[in-house]
Amino acid sequence: MSCRIAVFGTGYLGATHAACMAALGHEVLGVDVDVAKLAKLEAGEVPFFEPGLEGVLKSSLESGRLRFTSSYEEAADFADIHFIGVGTPQRRGDFGADLSHVDAVIEKLAPLIRKPSVIFGKSTVPVGTARRLGRRVRELAPVGEHAEVAWNPEFLREGFAVQDTLHPDRLVLGLDPSAPGRAEEVAREIYAKLIDEGIPFLVMDLATAELVKTAANAFLATKISFINAMAEVCEAADADVAVLADAIGRDERIGRRFLKAGVGFGGGCLPKDIRAFMSRAGELGADQALTFLREVDNINMRRRSRMVEMTREFVEGRLLGARVAVLGAAFKPDSDDVRDSPALNIAGQIQLQGASVSVFDPKAMENSKKIFPTLTYAESAIAACTGADVILVLTEWAEFRKLLPGDLEDVVRRTKIIDGRNCLDARTWRDAGWDYWGMGRR
Ligand code: UGA
Repeated sequence: MSCRIAVFGTGYLGATHAACMAALGHEVLGVDVDVAKLAKLEAGEVPFFEPGLEGVLKSSLESGRLRFTSSYEEAADFADIHFIGVGTPQRRGDFGADLSHVDAVIEKLAPLIRKPSVIFGKSTVPVGTARRLGRRVRELAPVGEHAEVAWNPEFLREGFAVQDTLHPDRLVLGLDPSAPGRAEEVAREIYAKLIDEGIPFLVMDLATAELVKTAANAFLATKISFINAMAEVCEAADADVAVLADAIGRDERIGRRFLKAGVGFGGGCLPKDIRAFMSRAGELGADQALTFLREVDNINMRRRSRMVEMTREFVEGRLLGARVAVLGAAFKPDSDDVRDSPALNIAGQIQLQGASVSVFDPKAMENSKKIFPTLTYAESAIAACTGADVILVLTEWAEFRKLLPGDLEDVVRRTKIIDGRNCLDARTWRDAGWDYWGMGRR
C-alpha cells in the first residue's frame, strides 16, 4: 500500500530516505528550508556525491511520487507520516549534540498537525530526546495525542546510502510505552517490502532505539581505535598491524571489517557521536561507563599527529619549505564529505608548519576549498605529486590504490611515500626503490 510521507531535511540522510521511500512506491514530499538545495533536487541533481543516488532520485521524480517543498503547511496537509532527517552536529564549545534543527522542525510542524499522524525520528539524538519531543508534539498539535513520535534510527553509510536504505541489516523502531498508538502498524506498512524480504524488524522502547544508534557508532569507533592502538604497539615492536588484523579478523567473534589501521576515523558522524554520547552519559550520571570513549577519541586524534611527525621525519626533520603532496581530502573514499576529515586536517597542520602542500581528491575539491582555502589544490594526482619531496596517501580512493611507482617516478623530486590508509602494496614500492612507510607496518 502506498503511504503519504514527508521527509524533513534533505541532506545525506533525508534526501536518500525521501528518494528511496518513493522508490518503494510511496508518495513523498521532501522538505527543507534551503531553497537552493531544493531547486537542485527538483532538477534531479544530488547536491553531494553519493554513488547511485542520482538514478533513484531521477526515477522517483519521473514517477511523480517524489516532490520537494519548503512549505511546512503543504507537508502537514499532504502527509500523515513525517520523518525527521535533519543534522545534529556537535555543539560549539562543548561535546553535546546541537538539537536546534530537530527542535525547529517539531516547533514548526506540530502546530500544523490536524489529522492523526506519526512522526518518525531518524536523526541521531541523545537518549531521552524522543520522549521529550513526543510530549512537546502532543502539547502543540491540534490533534493532541493523535500525533505520535516514534524513533527509527538510520544506519546508512555515506558511499552506500541507497544500498543501506533499501537493504539495511536491520530496521529498528522505538515506541513510547507511555503513549501507545499506531506507529508500529504504520512502520510495518512503510517498510513492508523490506520486511517481506526478511530484513529483521526490531521493535523496542524509545530510549533503547536511540541508544542502539549511538552504541553502534561507539562500537565502530572503538573497533577502529583498537586497531590503531595496535598499530602504535606494532610500530614500537617492529611488527605489522595489517598482518595482525588479518589474523585476528579470522576469528568470527572479532571479524576483519573496521579493522583497517591508518589515520583514523572522521566524518560527520563517528567523532561527534562518541562525544555527544559521553556528554549525555555525564548528564545521566553514567559518565564512568563511557570514559573509555575519551581514550578512543584520543587514540584517533593521535593518528593525525603521528602522520604529521612521520612526514617531518621523511623530509629530514624540517617541514619548513618542504613540498608535500596529499592524495585524498574526503573523510573516506566514494564521498565528497570533508567534515572532520583526517586527510584535510593533516594537510592543514603540515601547511601551518611551513610546508607547501598540494592536495588532490577526485570528488572533494570544492568542499575542501571552502573550509581550507589556503591549501594548494591540484588538477590531478600526478599534478599534486609534481615536484614533491614526499607523497601522503590519506584517503584510499581506488585511483590512488592503483598508482604504481612508475606513474610518479618522473614527476616527484624524491621517491618517498607515506601510506596513511595502508592501501598500497608495500613491496611494490620498496622494490622500485621508494622509501615507503605504512601506519603500524614494518
Ligand atoms: C557511520 C556508520 O558506519 C554508519 O552505520 C552510520 O549510519 C553513520 O556513521 C551515521 O551515523 O550516520 P560513515 O560516517 O558514512 O558511517 O562512515 P564509516 O564508513 O563508518 O567510516 C567512518 C570513518 O572511519 C572514515 O573516516 C573511515 O575512513 C574510517 N575507518 C573505517 C577507518 O579508519 N578504518 C576502518 O577500518 C573503517
